[in-house]
Amino acid sequence: MNVLDLQKHGFVTVQYPVALRRAVHAAMSSWIQFCDLPDHEKRKLSGGDRIEDYGYVRRQDSGSKADNKEYFHLFKGRAAEFHDKSASIADRRALEFLQAGDSLIKEIHPIVMRFARDMEKFYRMDGFAREVECSSDVWTFRYLHYFGGETLANSHADRLGFTLHLDETDTGGQYLCIRTRKWMPWPVNHQQTIIFPSLGLQHRSRNRVKALWHKVEPTPLSIKDGRFAMVAFIDFPQDREWDKYKHQRVQDLPEGFNYDLTFEELDREYFAPQREAA
Ligand SMILES: [Fe+2]
Repeated sequence: MNVLDLQKHGFVTVQYPVALRRAVHAAMSSWIQFCDLPDHEKRKLSGGDRIEDYGYVRRQDSGSKADNKEYFHLFKGRAAEFHDKSASIADRRALEFLQAGDSLIKEIHPIVMRFARDMEKFYRMDGFAREVECSSDVWTFRYLHYFGGETLANSHADRLGFTLHLDETDTGGQYLCIRTRKWMPWPVNHQQTIIFPSLGLQHRSRNRVKALWHKVEPTPLSIKDGRFAMVAFIDFPQDREWDKYKHQRVQDLPEGFNYDLTFEELDREYFAPQREAA
């Protein structure tokens, strides 16, 4: 891992240690199995509300940039709640999915913290590693399942701190290189993952790194059979956060809009003081 690579293409590659690779593989297999459960069983692991959604979610949007997918948001702070809820599901696949998630959360910790410490050191971000560590209860593991057809992830930059793209069952993922402004396939496979900044880290680093735009293009395989993927969103507390009331959907902004902004422009136009959800 070399965090200075963030200024070359916009991401860093990380070779998986054996234990983490196993945990990622087991988590993905268990998610594919979980998705096979009947809808009414999966919905028993839903939680939260429209503002704070976690657990199992089935999205059926409409419109030109609609998403049709199911996903699961898992994080340590809710793990006990999910385990309690899974007691009402007779099928073992629910519990196996949660257990695989527990070990993924544990195994990923050293890599996340190494990235955070390196960012602090090389980009002069005092206190950053501690901020990341203190947020480990809400590091969010997003398990995705697209059902097939043409619509996959439209181009966007993520809003929170930084993102690890952990695994996927098909190619098609691309990033918008911060230097060449060309779309390129991202180098994710069973041996390595990539970590890239989201808008929160661009702001926290005072623009030293840029939130990477990315998308998933359909392939013949994903159109026919769908696509499973796993990412981890790592966040940390900030005084100012992405102004979601002014700019609700990042995918509606021009691709790479944030690559050329000054820090002052980014802060003034797109960030606002943190406010509690109503
Ligand atoms: Fe994303």
